Amino acid sequence: MNLEALLSARLAPAFAQVAQETVDPAVRRSRQADFQSGAALPLAGPLGRSPRDIAASVLAVADLAGIATAEVSGPGFLNLRLTDEVLAAGANELTADPRLGVPRTPHPERVVIDYSSPNIAKELTVGHLRSTVIGDAAARLLAWLGHDVVRANHLGDWGTAFGMLIEHLGPADAASITDLTAFYQAARARFDDDEEFRSRSRLRVVALQSGDEQTLRQWRHFVAASQRHLLATYDRLGVTLGPGDFLGESFYNDKLAAVVAELIDKGLLRESEGALCAFPPGFTGRGGDPLPLIVRKSDGGFGYAATDLAALRYRTGELGATRLLYVVGAPQRTHFAMVYAVAAAAGWLPDGVRAEHVAFGSILGTDGRMFRTRSGGSVKLAAVLDEAVARAAALAPSAEVARAVGIGAVKYADLAGDRTSDYVFDWDRMLALTGNTGPYLQYAYARTQAILEKSATAPGPVRITAPAERALALELLGFAGVLTGLDESLEPHRLAGYLHGLGQAFSVFFQYCPVLRAPAGVRESRLGLCDLTGRTLRQGLELLGIDTPQPL
Ligand code: ARG
Repeated sequence: MNLEALLSARLAPAFAQVAQETVDPAVRRSRQADFQSGAALPLAGPLGRSPRDIAASVLAVADLAGIATAEVSGPGFLNLRLTDEVLAAGANELTADPRLGVPRTPHPERVVIDYSSPNIAKELTVGHLRSTVIGDAAARLLAWLGHDVVRANHLGDWGTAFGMLIEHLGPADAASITDLTAFYQAARARFDDDEEFRSRSRLRVVALQSGDEQTLRQWRHFVAASQRHLLATYDRLGVTLGPGDFLGESFYNDKLAAVVAELIDKGLLRESEGALCAFPPGFTGRGGDPLPLIVRKSDGGFGYAATDLAALRYRTGELGATRLLYVVGAPQRTHFAMVYAVAAAAGWLPDGVRAEHVAFGSILGTDGRMFRTRSGGSVKLAAVLDEAVARAAALAPSAEVARAVGIGAVKYADLAGDRTSDYVFDWDRMLALTGNTGPYLQYAYARTQAILEKSATAPGPVRITAPAERALALELLGFAGVLTGLDESLEPHRLAGYLHGLGQAFSVFFQYCPVLRAPAGVRESRLGLCDLTGRTLRQGLELLGIDTPQPL
């Protein structure tokens, strides 16, 4: 039962009668009452009456019997308070619904989500956390709402760096590399210092690009070793990216020439300083000059932008996606805007097909600067996860629970704030058992389950006998409203904020409403509320990619 819709349906005819036209009652959740309608306010001008007067007229004719009581408040708001019967009936509908009231989207789409997408020559750092965690939450959410999700891990697995890496590896097996970052740095140092190594590396790039079998074999080993490292990390993080989702830059290698030819054909490229560039209208550099998107470099090689154009064309053309999401940091905003503009001009983003940059801010240290190691290096993701689990061990009865709490805390902290903002990586805050944190919600969930386990009787139908039950039921009934539309806005923090509010409502309920000691009937009803709260917390956290360990 959608409470907003129910109240709107009852108020709309009354507004229409008073205003002599169709009016959206604009029913919203409110602090002053359960719900509020502010629709009388903008009618004052046209009707030449005071908003309070209009609201009173609406109330006089509205049929709210059995549903809600209402009063005019403030400058002309309608404050609406649902009856306990409606709340109980709504809660019981949720109990019977495996989807907890959340409808599937009426417009399912094939959505390609480009996320995680690390450059594989280096070990994962904390810099890869956000794309991986936000992208995975988006994938879970969209799939649950009924979209057809294609996960695309656009690995940086191709390019000139592989010349030096393969050369540095020599005949050794890439599987023997234990520290990718150290390996990369050693290769880089040799490349910078050793002229002979440098020219061998360059020849190696040419060999790779021209498909030399032995070079390709070494490159493949390199990629395979990196993929194993990635899959192990995804598994540890509880991220749904699997081996079938690797769709790296190399995949588009044999498509680049055709893409460029098509762009030339469509008159979208011109030469600039030896490179082939697109100049999509409206993009200018600092001095006001048109900004180039370099599609073919002056040395003839194809770069990042060419690959993104080929990938976009593949995703809409071959995969038939109508929505493309790129979960990438905010600094690449201009890059994506230009890629979309060129793709649209080329006809690869026809009407009804959307490409969106799901941008996010940076992770800062407690000093307010970019989060780095003491020596200024990038923080390895594995080290962050190790520390998270070690710190969580203090809160957890077992290693398995420590893992869920530690990893959950890190992921939740990444998802709980507006993704476009920066956030401070603060161990104490993210692991706190109070506040808008992962551990707080995991703990709330565990409490719901502990009560259910201890009880000799099963949950029964919900009925409202106390204010805290009422407030909890109202929160539970808000789940659908929070999730509906989240597939458009892709704001996981709204779901996180909702779950936090639900956890708080449960905590008040827990404090004021004894469950196991309650008289028969009330006890089963309260168990029903515990069960529903547990299911909602678990489902919500699962959509964010956070485990609900038991016991805690
Ligand atoms: N590998 C890139 C980087 O590390 C991110 C790729 C994002 N996806 C894309 N289609 N460009 O910055």
